[in-house]
Amino acid sequence: MTYKTKLRSQQWFDNPDNREMTALYLERYLNYGLTREELQSGKPIIGIAQTGSDLSPCNRHHIELTKRVRSGIEAMGGTVMEIPVHPIQETGKRPTASLDRNLAYLSLVESLYGYPIDGVVLNIGCDKTTPALLMAAATVNIPAIAFSVGPMLNGWFRGQRTGSGTIVWKAREMHAAGEIDDDGFMELVASSAPSVGYCNTMGTATTMNSLAEALGMQLPGSAAIPAPYRERGQMAYATGKRIVEMVHEDLKPSDIMTRAAFENAIVINSAIGGSTNAPIHLNGIARHLGVPLDNDDWQRLGHDIPLLVNLQPAGEYLGEDYQHAGGVPAVVGELLAADLLPNPDALTVNGQSMGRNCAERRSEDTNVIKTVAEPLMAKAGFVNLKGNLFDSAIMKTSVISAGFRKRYLSNPDDPEAFEARAIVFDGPEDFHARIDDESLAIDADCILIMRGAGPIGYPGGAEVVNMRAPAYLIRKGITELPCLGDGRQSGTSGSPSILNASPEAAAGGGLALVQTGDRVRIDLGKCTADMLVDEATLAARRDALPDRPYTPESQSPWQEIFRERVRPFSEGMTLRGADAFRDIAHKTM
Ligand code: FES
Ligand code: MG
Repeated sequence: MTYKTKLRSQQWFDNPDNREMTALYLERYLNYGLTREELQSGKPIIGIAQTGSDLSPCNRHHIELTKRVRSGIEAMGGTVMEIPVHPIQETGKRPTASLDRNLAYLSLVESLYGYPIDGVVLNIGCDKTTPALLMAAATVNIPAIAFSVGPMLNGWFRGQRTGSGTIVWKAREMHAAGEIDDDGFMELVASSAPSVGYCNTMGTATTMNSLAEALGMQLPGSAAIPAPYRERGQMAYATGKRIVEMVHEDLKPSDIMTRAAFENAIVINSAIGGSTNAPIHLNGIARHLGVPLDNDDWQRLGHDIPLLVNLQPAGEYLGEDYQHAGGVPAVVGELLAADLLPNPDALTVNGQSMGRNCAERRSEDTNVIKTVAEPLMAKAGFVNLKGNLFDSAIMKTSVISAGFRKRYLSNPDDPEAFEARAIVFDGPEDFHARIDDESLAIDADCILIMRGAGPIGYPGGAEVVNMRAPAYLIRKGITELPCLGDGRQSGTSGSPSILNASPEAAAGGGLALVQTGDRVRIDLGKCTADMLVDEATLAARRDALPDRPYTPESQSPWQEIFRERVRPFSEGMTLRGADAFRDIAHKTM
């Protein structure tokens, strides 16, 4: 059954078939000062999905910006209802913010479905807030527009740019080397967070906010404006105005986030040097729309695209520089000029195509946004590895260092493959406890393997696969070893690790069977990763596995529910059952 009225909110506030329910719905929304005129004269009711709160410092500035969004909505004749969203602070939530992406998704779906909302502004920002809100918009499928809170200003310390997350890796080294003390460590790390906003590096937040624009879900140019800039407030106002028009046009997420839009986003992700968390989130959003998308698409469309954006951790600069150089439209303009954007016709929230929005745009500072002719790196995307260790895992081959290449990938007969002895850790605690244990006799011929760090094993998946070498090897000058695992890697780290292995060990994937001492063969040319162990031995190891291998006890009810229903990283870490629902805005009892 579908509604007869034009706006779904009128089913609550002005239903000609049920005056009694209309009165009941109406009276309580009048009690804080709204008028019957605002609720009953056909004005769209616009939700603002509010992710800003004291618990979420990255998104907290949305509380201020929402005032400008409101003004935009009201200027176009809309009525605003702010919707509190379950907080997801990347740096504050234990065991991991990633666990809460699907919880925020579920709760926002219920808010949008169950209340009189005609269209919604999605207040995105910190890593998981962006995919959570886009997934909810995908399921409910009412008109929706994303609005970034914007990155923090550039961080500085003694004349050098200090970037969120990446500075921690550096500070750790300086601290270990005795160059700074404890207070110096805190001061250096804090220098990377000089203002309101989200991480100023090309970590998962800048990646996902850029991709929300690449998907067509933000107004052109919205992603990169730093949080404190006046343009951020002006964009808030424009976003508020536009969502009201979108409701009148009935322009829905499924019209914008099409297969074509996801293909564009994959290409743009390579060009910006996007985080390895992006395939998880985009595959997840696509699944909620019923758009087919998998890690083979990421390799096929994204691997050969050059890196254009010179932001830390891959490059030098930070968020303010990205904005000054033109942000996402400049990147798209450079790709268009080289004919590398697969679908210029893909529609965006402003009602125009991506191609039309960005055709005239070019880099305004080629130190920060490079051209395709002179990129920072030739092939910036991911490869999708497969084998008896897992069905799918991704690797960013562009971050393989010259030293690593020389050590592992220099056999003239087989230049893209290497073999190594497995050193297996069961979760991050096991790694930290044993990595420096000299009896493991780790040497340069080893590959470090982390299991029990996937969506089930470490609920939500831990960002721990980029493992450091043992101290006794570092002292000998061997600073990096190949790493592989069923967990994730922070978007602010640039290590060449094999990540997001799916299915994970806790779901009985091949990683559950590997043992320390096994030979492992990685072939980046053939895109394979295998343990060189015979079938009979593997079968015997499989028989010996417990019911829930590598799965510690849940510490909260949500962890337990999440573990029972979650899909692997390769399938977007969505919840079985939840991702079968489509287009529910107009479903009624
Ligand atoms: Fe929130 Fe990086 S921690 S954006
Ligand atoms: Mg992160």
